[in-house]
Amino acid sequence: MNVVILAAGMGKRMQSDLPKVLHPLAGKPLLSHVIATARSLGPSHCCVVYGHGGDAVPTQLAAEDLSFVLQEPQLGTGHAVMQAVPHLAEDQPTLVLYGDVPLTSSDTLKTLIAKAGKDKLAVLTVELEDPTGYGRIVREQGRVVRIVEQKDASDTQRAIREVNTGILIAPTRQLKAWLAKLSNNNAQGEYYLTDIIAQAVQDGVTVEAAQPAHVWETLGVNSKVQLAELERIHQRNVAQALLEQGVTLADPARIDVRGTLICGRDVEIDVGCIFEGTVEIEDHVKIGAHCVIKNARIASAAVIKPFCHIEEASVGAASQIGPYARLRPGTVLSEDVHIGNFVEVKNSQLGTHSKANHLAYVGDATVGSRVNIGAGTITCNYDGANKHRTIIEDDAFIGSDTQLVAPVTVGRGATLGAGTTLTKDAPADSLTVSRARQTSIPGWQRPVKLKT
Ligand code: UD1
Ligand code: CA
Repeated sequence: MNVVILAAGMGKRMQSDLPKVLHPLAGKPLLSHVIATARSLGPSHCCVVYGHGGDAVPTQLAAEDLSFVLQEPQLGTGHAVMQAVPHLAEDQPTLVLYGDVPLTSSDTLKTLIAKAGKDKLAVLTVELEDPTGYGRIVREQGRVVRIVEQKDASDTQRAIREVNTGILIAPTRQLKAWLAKLSNNNAQGEYYLTDIIAQAVQDGVTVEAAQPAHVWETLGVNSKVQLAELERIHQRNVAQALLEQGVTLADPARIDVRGTLICGRDVEIDVGCIFEGTVEIEDHVKIGAHCVIKNARIASAAVIKPFCHIEEASVGAASQIGPYARLRPGTVLSEDVHIGNFVEVKNSQLGTHSKANHLAYVGDATVGSRVNIGAGTITCNYDGANKHRTIIEDDAFIGSDTQLVAPVTVGRGATLGAGTTLTKDAPADSLTVSRARQTSIPGWQRPVKLKT
């Protein structure tokens, strides 16, 4: 099968400099959703017809299995498909999709494809309460005989509620011949792809119609309002699937998944969380309210408390994170690690049972097991030019408000006194402390204010 994706429309109503099909839905361009659906059907070739926005579309979405053809000027949907003709293998049918209709399911398309077989034309149609603006499906004795656009339709035809979604599949050899015969002699002066239906009927090619499982599968985006509506529909579907799979969502209307969220058993997710990229959550994990988690793995029974920000990080089993913790790329936490409020961890590993419970920066550090990092501890990993590592061995105790000036190593079982600025390695099993000795001056008098 060949796939042609129409994506040349200007999208004026988006009121944006970005080409319409590059606007994101669930974190990825509308067109990427359509390409992904097309790929799920295993086409032999996929061709994107683009127009507005210069090379932004082919540049941003370039892939080996895609070809991009420019349609300039845009003279209608039929004219758009004509641009793809040199890319279409004649011995297999051609499926036409719209780049601004992102939620069509592969199951619906498979039904359509099956209806067309090798030698029939099949159109995806829906019945709408208000068909205004759409091409109407004209049937005679129950068979589809032509499509009439809104602007060309008679009053009787305008009363028809079955409309063209724009998605169709046709035998390619005939399609090429029909396209060559299209005229723009109509109300809009455009080359209508829809005119191939009447040609097929004339040539004795059977025209079938198939319907989608849900009307939203055929909705397109022409404005930010419609984009927001489709985003909600998509998120509702994702939430529904998570619920059906056994995930507890405090409110299915208040979760946003912009990528792939894989959940184990008995996962609980509170309101307002955003998941981006690929996030894997194992069994019995609890995610508190308003967390943003991107490309991360949360191992079983970990608890992520509210307002955490986790990106490219791995959280070990039974760990406790937050509230208000930030795990940046390269963070790898072993089992039962505690990262508390206002702690930032970057490019660091922490061993089992280690803790940094309050107000700390742990960057470029290798931290062993059972290490306690006191409040206010900072790894000074950056000298203004280069980054250096801090190594903290097992069972070390880092007193509060310590600065570890990397590169530096704290030996196994070492204790650092509160307020230490560590510039040299701290030996194992010893107390290291660097701070002015405390003195007290008995009877010391405070200065008094001078009289003027
Ligand atoms: C088209 C159909 C109409 C159908 C409706 C569904 C035609 C003549 N009409 O109408 O029957 O009910 O879609 O939404 O086909 N495009 C190009 N190049 C062009 C024109 C359009 O690539 O020159 C692309 C657009 O980017 C869009 C799609 O084709 O993805 C449909 O274009 P649009 O202008 O929305 O089609 P309509 O005239 O609304
Ligand atoms: Ca449209």
